[in-house]
Amino acid sequence: MVAKQKVLISAMRHEAKGILSVEMVSAQADDLIPFSAGGHIDVFLRDGLVRQYSLMNDPKDSNRYQFAVLLENEGRGGSAFVHQSLRVGDVIEVSHPRNNFEVVDGATSHVFVAGGIGITPFISMAHHCRHNAIPMKLYYCARAPETTAFVDHLTPLFGENMLVHYDGGDPSKSINLTELVASEANAQLYCCGPRGLMTALAEVVDLQGGSLITEDFNPVGAKTDDEASKDGDFTVELLRSGLTVDVGEGQTIIEALKAVNIDVETSCEAGVCGTCVVDYLEGEPVHNDVVLMPDEQETSVALCVAGCKSKKLVLDL
Ligand code: FES
Repeated sequence: MVAKQKVLISAMRHEAKGILSVEMVSAQADDLIPFSAGGHIDVFLRDGLVRQYSLMNDPKDSNRYQFAVLLENEGRGGSAFVHQSLRVGDVIEVSHPRNNFEVVDGATSHVFVAGGIGITPFISMAHHCRHNAIPMKLYYCARAPETTAFVDHLTPLFGENMLVHYDGGDPSKSINLTELVASEANAQLYCCGPRGLMTALAEVVDLQGGSLITEDFNPVGAKTDDEASKDGDFTVELLRSGLTVDVGEGQTIIEALKAVNIDVETSCEAGVCGTCVVDYLEGEPVHNDVVLMPDEQETSVALCVAGCKSKKLVLDL
């Protein structure tokens, strides 16, 4: 079971065109479970509708969480629900915070590259860096001033180390990532935003060298590996019980396990939250998640989206 806490929606604000911030406090007037910079929570909006949002307030705040949501007309329902149905005074449940996007210890400087609503984790990270006198810089890529949230909040945090780049929605006017990476050699790079931006930056870092970590809450479907999603013809072996379960074509491992009454804890079921991650000991999974780092994928697998190249996958379950 995902550990949850009940929260009361205490404030909602329009921050820019299509962007709403949501603030919450404990429904029991307690402190909330602490979070670290870059952390996120699962927000249980209504039955079956769970979304992950980065926490954007100062991690030193013990009594409130804040996140922001972009209204996406082509979205999967979460952003529309927040914009159209969630209201101040509502009581909902959220998970305990998790963090797949921590500020890296020991780096000499930290360079954040945000695209649009991907700015949110960098706000809590900026508070952390300020508290600890850690050098940081922000590149904030956005379409236009009216769609760019939190600039007034960010300016005192970053001072001169903030560059806002507007492209007007024209890819030919995108920020020059080659120059960016070249000018930030030796920095720890972080990126959060549209998948296109993260992929492009990762490609430049691959070519020019550097260290990059990304946070991706985009639905995984866009990058699902065909081989994995269609080729569900394999068996999972559960190490601890010795059971074997066939995964049929078009089935996820989670679905196959559920069909024989084996419940694995899940949340997003989209490969973005990490709740269903388990270790594997044998086999060649196809990793369709966006939560595990390449080195983690050598030993762990997100069961909600993974496929398998080998005939058998042995899980530490
Ligand atoms: S349930 Fe979220 S990654 Fe699998």
